[in-house]
Amino acid sequence: MLYIGVDLGTSAVKLLLMNETGGIEKIVSREYPLYFPEPGWSEQEPGDWYTQTLEGLKELLAECDKSQVAGISFGGQMHGLVILDDKDQVIRPAILWNDGRTGEETDYLNQVIGKEKLSRYTANIAFAGFTAPKLLWVKKHEPENFARIEKIMLPKDYLAYCLSGTFCTDVSDASGMLLFDVEHKCWSKEMMEICGVRESQLAQIFESYEAVGTLKPALAKELGLLESVKIAAGAGDNAAAAVGTGTVGDGSCNISLGTSGTIFISSEKFGVDQNNALHAFAHADGHFHLMGCMLSAASCNKWWMEEILKTGDYAGEQKEIKELGKNQVFFLPYLMGERSPHNNPNARGTFIGMTMDTTREDMTQAVLEGVAFALRDSFEVAKSLGISIERTKICGGGAKSPLWRQMIADILNIKVDIPKSEEGPAMGGAMLAAVACGEYKSVEEAAAKIVSVVDTVEPNPENAARYEKRYQKFRQIYPTVKELFQTLQG
Ligand code: XUL
Repeated sequence: MLYIGVDLGTSAVKLLLMNETGGIEKIVSREYPLYFPEPGWSEQEPGDWYTQTLEGLKELLAECDKSQVAGISFGGQMHGLVILDDKDQVIRPAILWNDGRTGEETDYLNQVIGKEKLSRYTANIAFAGFTAPKLLWVKKHEPENFARIEKIMLPKDYLAYCLSGTFCTDVSDASGMLLFDVEHKCWSKEMMEICGVRESQLAQIFESYEAVGTLKPALAKELGLLESVKIAAGAGDNAAAAVGTGTVGDGSCNISLGTSGTIFISSEKFGVDQNNALHAFAHADGHFHLMGCMLSAASCNKWWMEEILKTGDYAGEQKEIKELGKNQVFFLPYLMGERSPHNNPNARGTFIGMTMDTTREDMTQAVLEGVAFALRDSFEVAKSLGISIERTKICGGGAKSPLWRQMIADILNIKVDIPKSEEGPAMGGAMLAAVACGEYKSVEEAAAKIVSVVDTVEPNPENAARYEKRYQKFRQIYPTVKELFQTLQG
């Protein structure tokens, strides 16, 4: 049988066709625009996601035996607010996970409602990119749109709705809405009241590996697929990536170097970081996880390469970088503000430490290192909770760079295991579809049978020692310039 994983990303949708033993048959990708209507805002058109997914599906299926396709599932960019009216029309463009417009609403939730209550209701506090503050923003700034809301959805759930007709979500993605009681896996009545929403506006909740329905007959016909093709709930992209890299069960770690950068720690049991610096979310394997999320990771390098250096030759730019741990230039990677651990939508990207002999390579190196140092900030929070991490998997576009992988190993001083496929969320989506179709008994079983590690990057002790000193300097920069970021916004 064949299974399709749809990774609904921020720059593109990636579709992956997997066979029953986990072999990748084909991958296709389709881009769509990302809009920044104001500095720090970030929006997309749900219609673009759907159109490109359909086109991608047609391309993906062009040469295969379509009667073998049994299931489709998703890994989707998290937290995005998609609102539909009573005619199922999208009311306004989706407000994305890296949108920073909700500073006031986030402050209201954290300070007036209070972090202690939010954490009790949902296991999390408010971050600017989460869904609930966006609802409050729409309520205040676009009351006519708020009044029309019939359905509140997350990005990948919009695709599931278009494909199956079921208004659904899954526990991992719902966790990032701040409307969901993560521990008990149900909508929080208190949060609904605070945000002025009714339960009927929220989706039916599924485990990520459960089928929510089948492909709509008209679509099955258009795509040449059987009407019995199952649509499985899928997961937020980080939980899906964790499945795709075999980060399931207890105490495994995955780092994703995509548009965002995340450090994801799977856990059998529900647990909350006392300071809520890490997100406490449900996992796609039926259990839970803790996660730190930085808003700009591989996107910092993309910005530096394409917008500033005006080149597409990423490997060429990295070729001359050989001395690790000696760079005098630092980069704060907060191009879209920052989520974990600073929770500051006003933070901004910053280079510091240049001299007349600073080279282009030093600047490129600082960008890569800045992302790794910022990941280490979340890693330190995990360590402070008594979690011991000796190795991690890695995935996402940035994971293709051997240099960046070595920096991560050295800066976090842990082993980095390279899975056979770095297609985390798309692979995880296909695996969730396979579980929903009964090909595997559980997500753990699918991971054990499908995922393999092809290489391990060991930390270099000398680099790690040098980087330790550099990291101690890096972590002084943000507190020093924090107030300035606030002033600059004014
Ligand atoms: C996670 C997060 C990002 C997006 C990226 O909390 O906001 O990783 O899911 O697509």
